[in-house]
Amino acid sequence: MTFAVNINRIIGEIDAATGGTAACTRPSYGAADAKTREYFLEVFGELGLDVHVDGAGNIRAAMKGKEPGLAPVLVGSHIDTVRNGGRFDGLLGVVCALECLRIFKEQGHVPRRNVEIIIFAEEEGSNFGVTLLGSKLLTGKLSQAALKELVNDAGESADAVIRDYDKLQPGDVYAMVELHIEQGPILADLKIPVGVVENIAGMETFRVTLTGTSGHAGTTAMANRKDPMVGAAEVILCMQKAAEKADGGTAVATVGKLTARPGATNVIAREVEFFVDIRDTDEASIDGLAMSLAFFAETAAEKHGLVAEVSRISKSAAIKLDSDVIKTIDQVATGLGINAKHMNSGAVHDAGMMADIAKVGMIFVPSIGGLSHCPEEDTRPSDIEIGANVLLETVKRLAEGV
Ligand code: HGY
Ligand code: MN
Ligand code: MN
Repeated sequence: MTFAVNINRIIGEIDAATGGTAACTRPSYGAADAKTREYFLEVFGELGLDVHVDGAGNIRAAMKGKEPGLAPVLVGSHIDTVRNGGRFDGLLGVVCALECLRIFKEQGHVPRRNVEIIIFAEEEGSNFGVTLLGSKLLTGKLSQAALKELVNDAGESADAVIRDYDKLQPGDVYAMVELHIEQGPILADLKIPVGVVENIAGMETFRVTLTGTSGHAGTTAMANRKDPMVGAAEVILCMQKAAEKADGGTAVATVGKLTARPGATNVIAREVEFFVDIRDTDEASIDGLAMSLAFFAETAAEKHGLVAEVSRISKSAAIKLDSDVIKTIDQVATGLGINAKHMNSGAVHDAGMMADIAKVGMIFVPSIGGLSHCPEEDTRPSDIEIGANVLLETVKRLAEGV
């Protein structure tokens, strides 16, 4: 028997969890995050789920299956957002996961394996600047020692905030599925309601610091300047060109955060710090762009009499998702008469970090205009309903998995 989700309840849940605003700024470990966490912990309790929160803030809420000794199926995403982000990124996957368990309960369906909702902490790096932090810790890709290096804008160290987090080993989880907005234009342009993710792009984030000589904006002749802002501008433009020209045409390089110090309009900056986000589904291409970044920074330093420092602050490998889970999603979509497109993800996802300890798949729903990480992020309720029904049936089948 095929169950169906309640789309009005899903939309209502998103509004309840976000207060109905389009723009969301919900960094992990902040007040807004705590409020949304509280909301879900209460709902999970009402549903009678077995709830566990680890020292990183990863939340797991389990529905008991007929054979609770078997490795569970996990379904979920994240609830933290980028600054001034949208209301669907991450949260939609959590709400649709909740809807799956609500429907199982309402239909009196007891899955063979336990099914657990998972909410990963700090997926956006919204607080400590490293994406996928909760899932990297959970799967042993980052250690407690590494947390000592992470300090947020308020000067707090991640090592002080995050203690005693769980560690999952291969075999602890049978499979995991994450529903997520595509965050790009492909599905919307093709008017296809469901994306089946094959590969998730790899990603490396670098901190670049250029240090020059500060001075008076009015009395320092142009020929006498060692201006790190000019050096930064040259590096940023060179990275844009290098990414545009990279083989394969799928590389991207972005500078979205830059700080000039002391940061006054009439002072030549002493120091400029900026972050470079490099991604591609091809790891060699990422390595090539990382080498180019180091070269561009050195070249600008030489030309303008600056000191350049380039350090990598985070890395996640390019990931191939599990062919069995992809097949299950395909079979479900076909069975429901839904057109689904295989595609890659330029965005990184917690599902990618789980892929080396469990069988993992992702379901995309269209982003209107391909917009995301901004308040204009939007997805049609009819597309959410279709994607959530594919998720529901996929989780149901995986939970019967042998
Ligand atoms: O940056 C990303 O791809 C994700 O939104 N954290
Ligand atoms: Mn995001
Ligand atoms: Mn996300």
